[in-house]
Amino acid sequence: MADRESVPALLRVLNGERLDPPPIWIMRQAGRYLPEYRELRTRAKNFLDFCYSPALATEAVMQPLRRFPLDAAILFSDILVIPDALGRAVSFVEGEGPRLKPLVDEEIWRFDAPERALQRLSPVYEAVERIRHAIPKDIALIGFCGGPWTVATYMLQGKGGDKDRSRRAVYERPEDVDALLDVLVEMSAQHLAKQVQAGADCVQIFESWSEGLSPLMFQRVIIGPTRKLVRRLRELGVTAPIIGFPRGAGAQFEAYASETGINALGVDTQTPADFAFKVAPEGMALQGNLDPQTLIVGGDALESAARDVLIAFKGAPHIFNLGHGITPEATPENLAHLVRVVKGQ
Ligand code: CP3
Repeated sequence: MADRESVPALLRVLNGERLDPPPIWIMRQAGRYLPEYRELRTRAKNFLDFCYSPALATEAVMQPLRRFPLDAAILFSDILVIPDALGRAVSFVEGEGPRLKPLVDEEIWRFDAPERALQRLSPVYEAVERIRHAIPKDIALIGFCGGPWTVATYMLQGKGGDKDRSRRAVYERPEDVDALLDVLVEMSAQHLAKQVQAGADCVQIFESWSEGLSPLMFQRVIIGPTRKLVRRLRELGVTAPIIGFPRGAGAQFEAYASETGINALGVDTQTPADFAFKVAPEGMALQGNLDPQTLIVGGDALESAARDVLIAFKGAPHIFNLGHGITPEATPENLAHLVRVVKGQ
């Protein structure tokens, strides 16, 4: 049995322990708000090349850990490596975000088998191995993927922004969308299983686009596929905890918490902590949910908002985080301040 102190705090909380102070990590903690990341980023021509370089990805993960005493590292990669591996070339246009060629229906059936497609992602698993060796044992390593619906929306729309076309596709060609979601469930399960085999301690499913769905559609495109994904991961022998982050789910948050089989819940900024507490199954860890804008403003406003989050989640197994990713405009100084406030230093 491992000595309790050597088990990363994040994993203890994922197993239902209440820790004071709570462990802290920050969504998108490696990224453009760090000058050293912006410098490193110039070494690869495009963003996916950067993600597929185990050396660059490992260095990007280490950068925030050198500056801040965080309790977890997250693999440096992107949710869109899955469509990329499926042959839907993804590009990142400066200032515009990701771009893909939108799927037309019959193309859904022309994907490679998941095992074959995932061979293209072997540099990602190599990065996980390197990162696990590079970080201390008491820091948890988080693997991740996008939620099937969130990734499907990028593939159907060809970009971020509004999801009208994706929602329309569910009414117009439901069988095609179900088939696409099934492909993404299988790809994501195998992708996460490989990350865990390579050394990830737990995984997070980023369902960033859970908003704006009718209850029936939410069941069909989010609850169903997520439940399948969780079940498939367990079938593949993965026992690592799974954090689900249904950003924007609103009133459907309860169904997500209790029907998907996930082990811990990412809470977005708009969701009240006591609501999360009430709807989550007893003992489920809750992660969140400071407004990312506070890291741009800093000072007393940051400090008081951070204390409000600490108070709101007191009594729950809580992992301190933002309610969404840190933005490029945030400053490293403000993040250092936040970590001091949370750790009571
Ligand atoms: O530190 C970490 O959290 C790990 C790395 C990570 C990235 N993307 C790196 C990245 C993670 C976990 C993601 C997840 C991701 N990617 C999500 C889900 C989380 C969320 O924010 O809702 C989504 C929707 C994406 C798709 C995506 N990739 C977007 C919308 C963008 C931003 C495009 C832009 O130009 O603003 C990306 C690119 C991206 N992914 C960057 C980083 C650091 C910036 C690109 C760069 O450095 O050039």
